[in-house]
Amino acid sequence: MTAELEPPIAAAPSWWRRPGLDVVDGRLSVDGADLEALLSEHGAPLFVYDLARPRENLRALEAALARTGIDHVVRFALKANPDPRILATIRGIGAPGEPGSVGIDACSPGEVLHALAHGWHPGEISHTATNVSERDLDVLLAHPIRINLDAVSQLERLGRRAPGRRVGIRVNPGAGAGYNEHMSYAGERPTKFGVTADRLDDAIDAARRHALIVDTLHFHAGSGWLGDQLDGFEVALGRATAFLDRLLEAGFPIREVNVGGGLGVPARADERPVDLDAYAQVVARHLVPYGVTAAVEPGDFVLKDAAVLLGEVVTVERRGETTFVGLDIGWNVNQAFFIYRYAQEIVPVRDPLRDRTQRVTVAGHINEAGDVFAEDYPFAPVEEGEPVAILNAGGYLQAMASTHCLRPTGTAVYLERGDGS
Ligand SMILES: Cc1ncc(COP(=O)(O)O)c(C=O)c1O
Repeated sequence: MTAELEPPIAAAPSWWRRPGLDVVDGRLSVDGADLEALLSEHGAPLFVYDLARPRENLRALEAALARTGIDHVVRFALKANPDPRILATIRGIGAPGEPGSVGIDACSPGEVLHALAHGWHPGEISHTATNVSERDLDVLLAHPIRINLDAVSQLERLGRRAPGRRVGIRVNPGAGAGYNEHMSYAGERPTKFGVTADRLDDAIDAARRHALIVDTLHFHAGSGWLGDQLDGFEVALGRATAFLDRLLEAGFPIREVNVGGGLGVPARADERPVDLDAYAQVVARHLVPYGVTAAVEPGDFVLKDAAVLLGEVVTVERRGETTFVGLDIGWNVNQAFFIYRYAQEIVPVRDPLRDRTQRVTVAGHINEAGDVFAEDYPFAPVEEGEPVAILNAGGYLQAMASTHCLRPTGTAVYLERGDGS
């Protein structure tokens, strides 16, 4: 029996359809452009971006925060996608200081310099990083950016070099949220990030000795959390306010509480997005009483659903009980499952809404057993030579691409709505 004749095990998912990513004339399309034609032109791996999407995502978040009335600032986590065309799109939302304009969350001196080179003013850039070296500080201290310190050691070292400077403290609230255990940044077990409650007095002592002006409290609960984990975020925020109370009692003029990034984007039909109004209300409920500015620094939320990653099926092969669908792209350009076990939907470009008739392992072309994109995955009966699209490919993937096995990191096409029609 051929795969085509088997009864469907699942209807094709279509939860992902939206303006800019849809089925046009029976084929998957981004902004009206035909993806198979783009793949033939550029070859795999090919990222195709819908530039309207980061604008939409940022505006939706901004609007939800504005509706609560809380004073707020949104900064894009640059590490999710530092491409100049993406940055131009985000910079284009508003000039420095304009209402609704988006700042930058940087996590390295390189990112600070990149943001400065792409039109951000120092005051719009907030740096929060871990294991910061003296050489890192050479660069960071040369610019009047916001710096959040994530260890007592960092407070001591920056304090010795720049006594009296304004700084923030990143804390580990001892609770977190994340897409799965690979994406939780805070919890009962200490992680490498942030000052823990048991070290807060030492942090306060270090700040005082160096006359540092602590004006910001920062935490990041984890990444990729969805609608069902808002409670987890709220627990982390509640615990962070206990740190805030202690810093205020110690006399520090905290003006900003940065609640980090972490807002996730659904990857499968059964996943629910975060209700942005509910999120904004949680932030406002905890922070309005303090009269502070709420800062949020999303990365993935801004970019994740803004791109697809295209490749071609090069192998369909049964091995024992498992059917492997092999693609001409690898984990060097799509680490989501390899590192984070993050599920992505994989959709045939031709006739993308056909029934799924088989369960397969979708794997890449890197010589490592872990180079897999999905396991036991209900999939359409694809043939060798067919183009497929991996969804939710706009955040982190291209930024983290490597030339492992000397496989190409691929190219990207950036489209505006209407480009392909
Ligand atoms: C401090 C900090 N802020 C923001 C982010 C962005 O996270 P996300 O892309 O999940 O929104 C991260 C991610 O690791 C982070 O560590």
